[in-house]
Amino acid sequence: MATYIVLLGPPGVGKGTQAEILAEKTGLVHVSSGDLFRENFKNQTELGKLAKSFMDKGELVPDDVTISMIRERLTRPDCQAGAILDGFPRTPAQADALEVMLSGFKGRVDAVPYITADEAVLVERVSGRWTCRASGHIYHEKFSPPKETGVCDLDGSELYQRDDDKVETVRKRIKVYLTQTTPLVDYYRQRGKLIEIDGMQAVEDVTAVLLPALKK
Ligand code: AP5
Ligand code: MG
Repeated sequence: MATYIVLLGPPGVGKGTQAEILAEKTGLVHVSSGDLFRENFKNQTELGKLAKSFMDKGELVPDDVTISMIRERLTRPDCQAGAILDGFPRTPAQADALEVMLSGFKGRVDAVPYITADEAVLVERVSGRWTCRASGHIYHEKFSPPKETGVCDLDGSELYQRDDDKVETVRKRIKVYLTQTTPLVDYYRQRGKLIEIDGMQAVEDVTAVLLPALKK
């Protein structure tokens, strides 16, 4: 049966960072809804332009377009063994849609690591984040700087700061997360899938708790 891991947690807590590491360790593909929207915007698709108008305000992209984008992504051959889902689902409607989708693929959500940190830490992490233009690799100017300023260690592409990482937008994203996404904590707890992880630790310490918890 295919394995699906859902990473849950507020903006800037380290979902993308841990997803990259998990993908490398498990061989599962990393599927990030935010990265897919950014890629669509880079290619100037209608979906990308629509998504960007919500993302810049720190709001969620409507469920219907988000769900169909993820459904399409999960049917590609590289997801046959499952995926590490980062940023999806983010609403109860998305979580229900995922259940239906995965039953169609003869898969299920195996585990939901729920990573948390204080708001001040989230803002500090997001404010210092630099993202790689080519593939979305993640750096932090203080906590995980690239070898050469402004250049991705992995593919040599340019590093940039996301438009939605301005402090006011980050605070809005955190509010939206608290109202629209936190209901998923109980959703997955009730289903026995939730693994609570303290995200206040260094990247490698978070991974050191996460990996063995997933093996159980
Ligand atoms: P998305 O791109 O998913 O953003 P997010 O959820 O707000 O989360 P971030 O990507 O900001 O943070 P992260 O948890 O991945 O942290 P990271 O690892 O980068 O979504 C963006 C927007 O797209 C949404 O606002 C919405 O508009 C739209 N969208 C996306 N999905 C949607 C959906 N399903 N439905 C509707 N709309 C959707 O780490 C952050 C920084 O901290 C980095 O610099 C990193 O190096 C550093 N760092 C990470 N971990 C640590 C650590 N342990 N210690 C120190 N530094 C660390
Ligand atoms: Mg991310």
